[in-house]
Amino acid sequence: MLELEHVQFTAGTTNIVKDVSLTIPEGRFVVITGPNGGGKTTLAKLIMGIEQPTGGAIRWNGADVTHLSITERARLGISYGFQAPPRFKGMRVSDLLQLAAGSDQQLTHDQCCAYLTKVGLCARDYVGRDVDASLSGGELKRIEIATILARGSGREHSLMIFDEPEAGIDLWSFAKLTETFRALHAGGKATVIIISHQERIIRLADEIVLIAGGEVKARGSVDEVFPLIMRDTVSTCSAAEQEGL
Ligand SMILES: Nc1ncnc2c1ncn2[C@@H]1O[C@H](COP(=O)(O)OP(=O)(O)O)[C@@H](O)[C@H]1O
Ligand SMILES: [Mg+2]
Repeated sequence: MLELEHVQFTAGTTNIVKDVSLTIPEGRFVVITGPNGGGKTTLAKLIMGIEQPTGGAIRWNGADVTHLSITERARLGISYGFQAPPRFKGMRVSDLLQLAAGSDQQLTHDQCCAYLTKVGLCARDYVGRDVDASLSGGELKRIEIATILARGSGREHSLMIFDEPEAGIDLWSFAKLTETFRALHAGGKATVIIISHQERIIRLADEIVLIAGGEVKARGSVDEVFPLIMRDTVSTCSAAEQEGL
C-alpha cells in the first residue's frame, strides 16, 4: 500500500504540491490526470525520491520512505518512467532492460524481446541498439516503458509509475500499449500509477485521481470523475476565474 500523508513540495516561494494525502492499496490501478502544470510529475518524483518533499510523509507497505534515496526505493520495488526519458549513450537496449530487471534475475534474449513487443517495438530491430540520440522520442519512450515492465513484472510488491506513457507514441503502438496496461491490470499483482490524459487509459483505471493546482481536486471511479474532466470544471487560472474570463 502506498500512503501519502500531507505531502508538500515548495520550490522557492511556489507551492507546487500542496498537502496531498492519498492512499493506494496494493494491486490498485490508478490513473492520475489533470491540467498541465498541476503537479502530477512532481508528485511522481516525490514518490520515487527524485525530489524531496518539504512536508509530509510517504510510506510504502508500511515503511517510511520519505527520506530514502532513489536506489533504496527502487530496491523496495518502486519504479518510475520519466515523462521525458533520458538517453544512455553506450548502452544497448538489452543492457538497459537487464539493469532494470536487477541482478537477481538474468533476462534471456527472448525475455528482452517480449518486453519490447509489449510496447509495440519490433524486438529484433531494437534489442541490440544503443540507447542514444539515434532513437526517436517515441522509440525512447517505449524502451523506457519496457524497462519499467522489466523492473516490476514478476516481483512481489512492485509499484510502477508511468508518466504520460502515450506521449509521442503513434496510434498503432498506443493500441499495443493499452493492451499491455490492460493485461497488467488483469494480472492484478503490481500497483500501477499512470499519469495520463488519454481517455482509453483513463477508462482502464480502478480509480482516477484528478490533480490541479498542486491539490487532489477529485478522486473516484471513472464514472464519477470522467464527467468532471469533460465538463472542464477545473480551472487552472484563478485570476481568469475571478475576472470571468
Ligand atoms: N523544481 C522546480 N522549481 C520550480 N518550479 C517547478 C519545479 N518543478 C516543477 N515546477 C513547476 O511546478 C508546476 C508543476 O509541474 P509538474 O509537476 O511538471 O506538472 P504536471 O506534470 O502536472 O504538468 C509547473 O508550473 C512547473 O513549472
Ligand atoms: Mg507532467
